[in-house]
Amino acid sequence: MTFQYSRIADPLYVSENRVGAHSDHRWFASAAEARRGVSSFEQSLNGQWCFHYASTADESPAGFESPEFDVSLWHEIPVPAHIQMHGFDRPHYANTQYPWDGHDQIMPGQIPERFNPVASYVKRFTLDTPVGVGERVTVVFHGAESALAVWLNGHYIGYGTDSFTPSEFDLTDHLADGENVLAVQVFKWSAHSWIEDQDFYRFSGLFRDVVLYRQPVAHVRDVRVRATLSEDLSGAELAVRVDLTGGSAVVRLADGTQLKDLGDGTFVTWLDQPRLWSAEHPHLYEVLIEVRDPDGEIVEVVPQRVGVRRFALEDGVFKINGQRIVFKGVNRHDFGLNGRVVTREETEADVRTIKALGLNSVRTSHYPNNSYFYELCDEYGLYVIDEMNLESHGLWDRIRYHDAPDSEAVPGDRPEWLPALLDRARSMVERDKNHPCIVMWSCGNESYGGSNLAKVTEYFHEVDDRPVHYEGVAWDPRHPETTDVHSEMYTPAAKVEEYLRENREKPMILCEFAHAMGNSFGAVDRYIDLAYREPLFQGGFIWDFADQAIAMTDRFGQRFFGYGGDNGEAPHDGDFCGNGILFADHSPKPFTQEVTHVYRDIVTRIERDALTIENRYLFTNTSAFECVVTLSHEGEEIASEILDTDVSPGQVRQYPLPVTIPSGPGEYAVDVSYRLRAPQRWAEVGHEVAWDQAVFGSFVPSPSVPAAPEIVDGIHNIGVHGKNFTVLFSRLYGGMQSYRFGGGGPEHEILRGMPTPNFWHAPTSNERGWNAPSLDGQWLLASRYAVSERRPDQPFLETLEDSARVTYTYDLPTVPASQAALSYRVFGDGRVAVQLTVDPGDGLADAPECGVLLALDPELDQLTWYGEGPEESYSDRRLGARLGVYSAPVATQLTQYLRPQEAGNHTGVRWATVSDARGRGLRFEGSGMEFSALPWTPFEVENALHHTELPPVHRTIARPALMRRGVAGDDTWGSQTHPEFRLPADRQLIFEFSFIGINA
Ligand code: GAL
Ligand code: MG
Repeated sequence: MTFQYSRIADPLYVSENRVGAHSDHRWFASAAEARRGVSSFEQSLNGQWCFHYASTADESPAGFESPEFDVSLWHEIPVPAHIQMHGFDRPHYANTQYPWDGHDQIMPGQIPERFNPVASYVKRFTLDTPVGVGERVTVVFHGAESALAVWLNGHYIGYGTDSFTPSEFDLTDHLADGENVLAVQVFKWSAHSWIEDQDFYRFSGLFRDVVLYRQPVAHVRDVRVRATLSEDLSGAELAVRVDLTGGSAVVRLADGTQLKDLGDGTFVTWLDQPRLWSAEHPHLYEVLIEVRDPDGEIVEVVPQRVGVRRFALEDGVFKINGQRIVFKGVNRHDFGLNGRVVTREETEADVRTIKALGLNSVRTSHYPNNSYFYELCDEYGLYVIDEMNLESHGLWDRIRYHDAPDSEAVPGDRPEWLPALLDRARSMVERDKNHPCIVMWSCGNESYGGSNLAKVTEYFHEVDDRPVHYEGVAWDPRHPETTDVHSEMYTPAAKVEEYLRENREKPMILCEFAHAMGNSFGAVDRYIDLAYREPLFQGGFIWDFADQAIAMTDRFGQRFFGYGGDNGEAPHDGDFCGNGILFADHSPKPFTQEVTHVYRDIVTRIERDALTIENRYLFTNTSAFECVVTLSHEGEEIASEILDTDVSPGQVRQYPLPVTIPSGPGEYAVDVSYRLRAPQRWAEVGHEVAWDQAVFGSFVPSPSVPAAPEIVDGIHNIGVHGKNFTVLFSRLYGGMQSYRFGGGGPEHEILRGMPTPNFWHAPTSNERGWNAPSLDGQWLLASRYAVSERRPDQPFLETLEDSARVTYTYDLPTVPASQAALSYRVFGDGRVAVQLTVDPGDGLADAPECGVLLALDPELDQLTWYGEGPEESYSDRRLGARLGVYSAPVATQLTQYLRPQEAGNHTGVRWATVSDARGRGLRFEGSGMEFSALPWTPFEVENALHHTELPPVHRTIARPALMRRGVAGDDTWGSQTHPEFRLPADRQLIFEFSFIGINA
């Protein structure tokens, strides 16, 4: 048999000579070896391999598989790795469009001929242990993207597709004594690349482990564990099916209990009052399979973990161990700083983060992950939707947007795609079936519908009892049986509710929602509220876990995270790869504070004298957490009590408030915080799992000194002076030109420009997504080019009893024109009470924000605020922010969203100071205003495509505001900020705040 390259363009050419898929169990020579976790049957081939890169098959080295072929001048490349991360070809980010679209006129199944990178690999190895009589040796490529052909010592061994499940080949018949030469070719694109059109970086190569496995004469080829719980969960039958070649097996539990051998390869036992597995309490039983050869010698020991749990549709809803589940999920791409080459340690860090953030489930969008991901989810406790490697999005677009008929769908109803689909389904189920964490199989993503997908589901149902998920049925309802759950993506909560009013035959989830691209995640509580109101809505999976971006160095040597186009690739989809609740380095974005809060499992309503605690856990009493109730006065803690709570899962209970809120003036916050009493694998004792806060009383602004200031009414300037300060208002330039403040020392100029009415911020990804800038761009002009006409009465000066008031009016260049007025009332102590009045022109779109922009001395680089925090918040994303006093360097305030955009806002601000190292600066006050202090103007931020492109810092830009437009977040391709989080466009807006110099 020989390998023919031309065949890789045939969808029916799925594999050749591949070993059948089986469970991902490991086997060891003895129980002791199993305990150590190092198997003498495994030999890793990871490491440096000889490597040749060719951009087409024609240019790849003919005959390279021969052991005699001279590879001494070849490159070396690490395995596992994407070749594109090692200087060959280039990382290519594309979302729905096929990377060859517009380059090659090809039909589904055909492959680009002019450019299809071929990676030729050669690895020499000697077996650690020679093969014994009757033993077999296979090689497993745990991930090869997208197709590979394998030779050993010059003999063609086989071919495999499906980038995300193992390709295993039996090498035994061609092994040599001593050194062996393994030759592999990996093709970037094969016929099946048409069904691997996921929204991700397009890479190729051997990107997961390559391992040699030796199978002893008696060997467990496959294990299947199944725990069937009795109706009332009081007992479970544990069945272990062992597919054994040669020899005999004994199966035991870790406590020594031997399972009964039913003689057909099945071993059973009954577990009384079993400890159940759930995401909250992920208990695992250990099973040990002992294999003896015909002589009775132990030749193999297989440890296998079992989670006893029941996940099923019961009474029309999904239940885990009898309790209705709400998926508080996230979609996760298996992606890190080395692309989809992820280590166990990195994966574990992710799982830990997911748990610590309070999520309970993950969808493996959109392909099976490394086996260790599932192992970790078993151990840490996460519900997983395991998704098959299938996406033909680009072709679905033809049906969706170009009126192509259903008959053109791929895989659709076309027989030539069915074998590949069934192969992928089998490879995933067979490998992953024993993981209790997996609660559903998913047929793939965004591939429209058709009979082939229905057959995939039929196959899943035939071999396994887990429910099946497929979202495509929502687009193509011809085969509703393809999915057991009605799944949609990005449907606004209100629409979900509407849908479920009429359609009650299946429970519903959102396999993707809350599109976390850029500064996003607004109004997500709407969905969670619905999940607790409507039993059929069982939650959703945030899109998605972490930004997918590539660490790069710019031409000035600065490191940055690149996205689509930055590697010179085309076609590409820009920064659409940055939708994570984590940054590309997997550190949390500020809005994870909102994620954790809206997903929390203990919800507390706090009243003046009582707490009402709702326990949303399914299996955990609130007594598992220390409940700490604190009382604070304007950011300062004045009392703290520990409350013993005992609220059973699913119950609500009331307790008296253990602290007394003073009734006098001032503002008080009560915080109720639930903290781990026992350490978990994912967090330490004291880790907060839930909190709520309520605010009582009201903040009393600082009074102004009654002494009137001195006024100097000049020709071109109005000066207002007091003991420690000077303010100059310009008649020539239409604004306050100077604010000097001494406070006992020499006066210091604080301004670096005249304050201006401001209506603009650098568009967020969501705003770009609904073309907000083209609708409301007039507010950009209004912010940059407002005119304060030079007239004798401009500015208008009023001398009041305790102050001087100077008012400028502005013509804003919108069509129709808008007007604004900025008035400054200066008191004798230097306090300036500012009022901004805006009259928007008729019919204008709502402004992105409404406030004042003040350019300040850049030495004022420290921000402290009494308001909501600690992370940035917006009107539609402030539930996860708590009232308090917080500090942060101004330099950290522009959140590192992949593409710079509006960021760093704080809501509910009562006061804020922006000060230098000596404590000099400005103190702002307002009644629950929004506020940011950033090193750049909105215009500078908007101009930069990456953070390294932002200019050197010359100013601190303070932007007190009445309001900024909520960030939105239902999706990033049209969904707008909900109306209640937008500024009114049809009436006068008035914003008041004050500032005063400070000198600590
Ligand atoms: C969904 C898709 C995801 C991702 C997202 C946009 O339609 O399933 O893979 O592309 O949109 O970020
Ligand atoms: Mg897609």
